[in-house]
Amino acid sequence: MKEKKQIKNNFFKDCDVSKNIKVEFENPIYLEEVKIMHHTKIGQFSYMGKGALIGTMKEMGRYCSIAPGVKIGLGNHPIDYLSTHPLFFNSASMFDFYLKKNLMIGTHRTHAVIANEPIIGHDVWIGSDSIISRGVEIGHGAIIGANSFVNQNVPPYAIFAGNPAKLIKYRFSEEIIMQLLELQWWNLEIDLKNYKPYHDVEKIIEILKTYHDRANPEKLFLLNRKIYPIDYKFNNHR
Ligand SMILES: CC(C)(COP(=O)(O)OP(=O)(O)OC[C@H]1O[C@@H](n2cnc3c(N)ncnc32)[C@H](O)[C@@H]1OP(=O)(O)O)[C@@H](O)C(=O)NCCC(=O)NCCS
Repeated sequence: MKEKKQIKNNFFKDCDVSKNIKVEFENPIYLEEVKIMHHTKIGQFSYMGKGALIGTMKEMGRYCSIAPGVKIGLGNHPIDYLSTHPLFFNSASMFDFYLKKNLMIGTHRTHAVIANEPIIGHDVWIGSDSIISRGVEIGHGAIIGANSFVNQNVPPYAIFAGNPAKLIKYRFSEEIIMQLLELQWWNLEIDLKNYKPYHDVEKIIEILKTYHDRANPEKLFLLNRKIYPIDYKFNNHR
């Protein structure tokens, strides 16, 4: 009963989760018109905008902002078979209406082609319509510019953009980045009710350090750390 209530606190508007796929999430998250094709995990306060698509993704951390149209971990077709068409690697279920169901045609894709799910860290902002390739890891605090094609790892707090995406700059100095990574503020109990100078990163680092000092290590994590599984039955759940 309690678990059901927690799920209601999340917002899944017109989402399409493939059959038998398990999405594990912390509470709350917000997904609008998102298609999810493979098992994944999403951290609290992360959101994905309209038309975003997760082909594969090992996990996404907390406080991620994923703009509309972003595509993560799409599949690769084998490039050295007779054809790159899914008919020839036994993945053409879209033609089931024409072909006999479960007919084995061709050879399954090799592990190398389907493995390497991308990993998205905490506090990542991905600009609209960007594509995140398989095997890529986006570090905590990174930003991906709109319309980018990301085919290499992005270090923490780096801003990458373009096709292929390249480093534009870092959000903060190396010294501040080191402190933020050590602080792991996304694991702290953030004060969501009172004014805090979040715009002044040096000041807020000092404040967050005191949270660390006060905190019992057991209680460093937010209340809703529990992971709630959903399956496709929760599609369109408000
Ligand atoms: C990446 C981004 C945050 C950078 O913003 P910024 O720090 O103000 O960067 P600037 O505009 O000063 O640009 C710096 C350089 O990066 C380039 N650049 C910026 N965004 C780019 C993008 N999306 N693709 C390619 N190059 C980009 C600029 O052309 C500029 O290059 P130059 O130094 O050779 O002239 C911003 O451009 C962006 O793409 N925002 C995403 C918007 C979005 O999708 N919002 C959705 C809401 S959730």
